[in-house]
Amino acid sequence: MKFFVDTADVAAIKDLNDLGMVDGVTTNPSLILKSGRDILEVTREICDIVGGPVSAEVVATEAKDMIAEGLKLAKIASNIAIKVPLTWDGLTACKAFASEGHKVNVTLCFSAAQAILAAKAGASFISPFIGRLDDINLDGLDLIHDIRTIYDNYDFKTEILAASIRNVNHITECAKIGADVITAPPAVIKAMASHVLTDKGLDQFLKDWAQTGQKIV
Ligand code: G3P
Repeated sequence: MKFFVDTADVAAIKDLNDLGMVDGVTTNPSLILKSGRDILEVTREICDIVGGPVSAEVVATEAKDMIAEGLKLAKIASNIAIKVPLTWDGLTACKAFASEGHKVNVTLCFSAAQAILAAKAGASFISPFIGRLDDINLDGLDLIHDIRTIYDNYDFKTEILAASIRNVNHITECAKIGADVITAPPAVIKAMASHVLTDKGLDQFLKDWAQTGQKIV
């Protein structure tokens, strides 16, 4: 399973990248806003740090304008994946980008039917949003499962990039289902290391160690 980090926070990306935890990065307009940075500058900086795909999202809504924006974003670095929304115009732009050899991440996917269209339009990645489905009392993980089944049925090469990940359980379940990639905020990736029994066990070891009066170094 590949780990993408869902952020435009350069310091957080560096931090996880130093640990070998970063196979790629995803950004979106909301994350660019949160970073307070210029999209071209911050995306270039991220591409200098990370070797894997870095998703940069278009904001136009018509295919021809999406294509112009996507081509500009693609010039930032060779590892840019152009991110387009799952609309008919987005699929049109996806097909155009894919035909020219660009990686495309089709985002805002909320149904298996949408995921089929993205695969047929040549997307490198499909981004189903788990958390936002959970928010409306649907099961986001069911969607990951359905897309996995369909893509395997037809040997579609599009990678399932599970997005809108809100907790550690989402990541573990995606791994069990066989999502190709997860993209999660840095805090959720870091939370994977936490377990109450680890904390409790360590506390006991340290107390017992103190009683030995010994030192290792
Ligand atoms: O990758 C998509 C992600 O940024 C959306 O997450 O938590 O805003 O639904 P969220």
